[in-house]
Amino acid sequence: MTTTHSRGIASESRAGAQPVSPTASGSGSVLTPELLAACDDSIDSYATAKTLPAVMYTSDEFLAFEDEALFAHEWLCVGRASRIPNPGDWFCVDLAGEPLIVARGKDCVVRVFSAVCQHRGMTVCEGAGSSTTFTCPYHHWIYGLDGRLLGAPAMERTAGFVKAEWGLPNLKVEIWQGFVFANLDPDAAPLGPTLGRIEGYLANWDLENTVALPSFTLYDLPWNWKVMFENFNDGYHANKLHQVIQDFCPSEMAVFPEPWDDASNVVFRHNGFTHIDGGFNATHKALFPIFPKLTDEERWRATFALVPPTLCLGLAPDQAFYFLVRPKTANTIDVEIGYLVTQETVEHPMFEHLLRASDAGVQVFVMQDQDATTKVQRGLHSRFAARGRYSWQEESHVQFNRWLVQRYKRHWPGV
Ligand code: FES
Ligand SMILES: [Fe+2]
Repeated sequence: MTTTHSRGIASESRAGAQPVSPTASGSGSVLTPELLAACDDSIDSYATAKTLPAVMYTSDEFLAFEDEALFAHEWLCVGRASRIPNPGDWFCVDLAGEPLIVARGKDCVVRVFSAVCQHRGMTVCEGAGSSTTFTCPYHHWIYGLDGRLLGAPAMERTAGFVKAEWGLPNLKVEIWQGFVFANLDPDAAPLGPTLGRIEGYLANWDLENTVALPSFTLYDLPWNWKVMFENFNDGYHANKLHQVIQDFCPSEMAVFPEPWDDASNVVFRHNGFTHIDGGFNATHKALFPIFPKLTDEERWRATFALVPPTLCLGLAPDQAFYFLVRPKTANTIDVEIGYLVTQETVEHPMFEHLLRASDAGVQVFVMQDQDATTKVQRGLHSRFAARGRYSWQEESHVQFNRWLVQRYKRHWPGV
């Protein structure tokens, strides 16, 4: 029997709320034809769309599917190229279950290759450093900064062993706006052309030549990676959850400047300010020197961009900020956070003070956002988790759904 009097656990008006049983086809798998069909309700427009089914945020089987459908084929941001400025510099990163090395070669080229030793699988290195080669700690196979195998002790009696065939597998690499992207799919199409919609809006920050403050990582945050992406680009909560501290950048000043394009890999919005040079801190004003090439228009707004499935990028008049999102389980992520500022900022005599004040402001947002996203993830596990409806201020979420569903369809088992 259905009821219609309350928020309607089974009311007609919310007929999409719970109809997608994780195992509707009886297969025991969440990846049913019914679940795929339900995605079509999430991609039309904010006016008609419903949120994606909750199981897509809570199921580890679904995350394993996303590993194949998204992470194995899309461009994954591994960090800033400026983190390894000199030949021989390198750092390690774990993405989609793959331990990777990001290294600058003697030829100054940035490469990304597997850290899995091709002998018996040990991780060749961890952390970060600067060296001329990598020596696997287990049996001392030696690899170059380009991943080539340079030495392997006591292998001269091994039949048909040719060093040139045993290098660390290299990934495709592209650098965009100073961010290093790698792709696990050797046939992946180039990334750059798919980000053209936003480039004109970024140009005046000159991100390739900004100063990157040292990034830091928050581990095991208890929400799904898509909850993180949605929260990052959610103008609807701006002056609600962040009432007072974000009143200068209110929800009703959200602008979605470009029509969606299915070939695009970026989802973004601008959010206007009530005054020039707004800042996400207690003063509501930018604290660092403003990026010098910004137009007046750019000083009256912030821009929030998603390059799924790993990079969230924000632009304000005095700083850019980014999240590198790394799913660990359906319900947990690690997030590396970094800030990009002008050279003038780090040379400012009061830089340390300004940074502390800026940080204190950010912490207010972080605490409020973390509380919300933790509870959203908990709510998504509820039997009462709804297929919710969107405000016009949430157009980005529908665009993000389109990006996702397009790829889910391409890889759904049996389709
Ligand atoms: S596993 Fe690396 S040298 Fe043996
Ligand atoms: Fe927020």
